[in-house]
Order: sequence, then structure tokens, then C-alpha cells
Amino acid sequence: MKHFPKPLSKEETLALISRLDHHFKKHGYCYFAIDLIETGAFIGFTGFANQTWDSDFTPCVDIGWRLKRSAWGKGYATESAAACLKIAYSMFGLKEVLAFTTDTNKASQGVMTKIGMQYENTFQHPAIINDPRFKHCVVYKWQYL
Ligand SMILES: CC(C)(COP(=O)(O)OP(=O)(O)OC[C@H]1O[C@@H](n2cnc3c(N)ncnc32)[C@H](O)[C@@H]1OP(=O)(O)O)[C@@H](O)C(=O)NCCC(=O)NCCS
Repeated sequence: MKHFPKPLSKEETLALISRLDHHFKKHGYCYFAIDLIETGAFIGFTGFANQTWDSDFTPCVDIGWRLKRSAWGKGYATESAAACLKIAYSMFGLKEVLAFTTDTNKASQGVMTKIGMQYENTFQHPAIINDPRFKHCVVYKWQYL
């Protein structure tokens, strides 16, 4: 969580799960849980969410990912995110998907590049505008062709 303002408490985590559940019921997609096929273990999430905070490129749908540390570096983020983009249009009607992160989060940008997203721009995230650690964010774009 070093690329986020702070780790979430248990209550904040439960609230996030509840928001994702609500988002899934309303829109048919959300940040989906990732389970390992071999063991069924829950290792994190990848998926889509509607973003409505104020910027030049919102409202939009973004793709995001967050894996527990022991699952990093095994290609799971790339595999699950690529699988999401594969069904983005056919299942959810999404023709354009954006991804955001801080300019220091090279792991996340590595996933963006590996799943074929194109670097678009830098911006300052309005929700964390007063925190110098997150001053510079990047946006990548994927389009259905
Ligand atoms: C971002 C995250 C999901 C990536 O997971 P991962 O399992 O390492 O991703 P992958 O194994 O699919 O790797 C994708 C590419 O990212 C790059 N990458 C991974 N970690 C990296 C790092 N620390 N520095 C630079 N590049 C890195 C690699 O180039 C890799 O490509 P390769 O297979 O050719 O080496 C994981 O680091 C994570 O959960 N981080 C914490 C939460 C987070 O930051 N989420 C994103 C917020 S926007």
C-alpha cells in the first residue's frame, strides 16, 4: 500500500468490499476477486470500476489490480487483467478502459504495458492532491478495436 495514502483498516476493507458488491449488482462488473485455480486461495483483485472523480478524462471505467505480496512477480496480475480486457467489450460493452497509478509505481505500469495499454498523460489525482508522494500520477488507455 506504499503507493496509496495509507493501508485500510478492517472496517475500511469491509466497506470497500461492500462498495464493490454494490457496483457489481448495479453495473455487472467490479474489481473481481482472484482465486488461484490450483488451490482456490484468494490472492487479490483485478477488474473494472466506474470512476467519477473530477478530471479531464472522467467519468470513465478503469482497470485496477491489487495482489497480496506472496503472489507478486508470478504474472498473475498480467494474466487476470488481460483476461478482463478480453471480455471488456463482449461482456460489458466497454470500448475504452483507462488505468491510473503514481509515476513511482513501476510494477503497476509494467502490468499496463504488458496488457497492451498505451501511455496517455500525467495528472494530479484530486483525491490526494495535498500529499506530495502522489503528486504525479500517470494514465494509460486501452481501446476496443
Ligand atoms: C501491481 C501488482 C498487482 C503487480 O503484480 P505482479 O504480480 O508483480 O505483476 P506481474 O507478475 O503480472 O508483472 C507484470 C510486469 O510488471 C513489471 N514489474 C513487476 N514488479 C515490478 C517492479 N517492482 N518494478 C518494475 N517493474 C515491475 C514486470 O516488468 C512484469 O513484467 P515481466 O513479467 O516481463 O517481468 C502488485 O505489485 C501489487 O499488488 N502491488 C500493490 C498494489 C498496487 O500497487 N496496485 C496498483 C495500484 S494502481
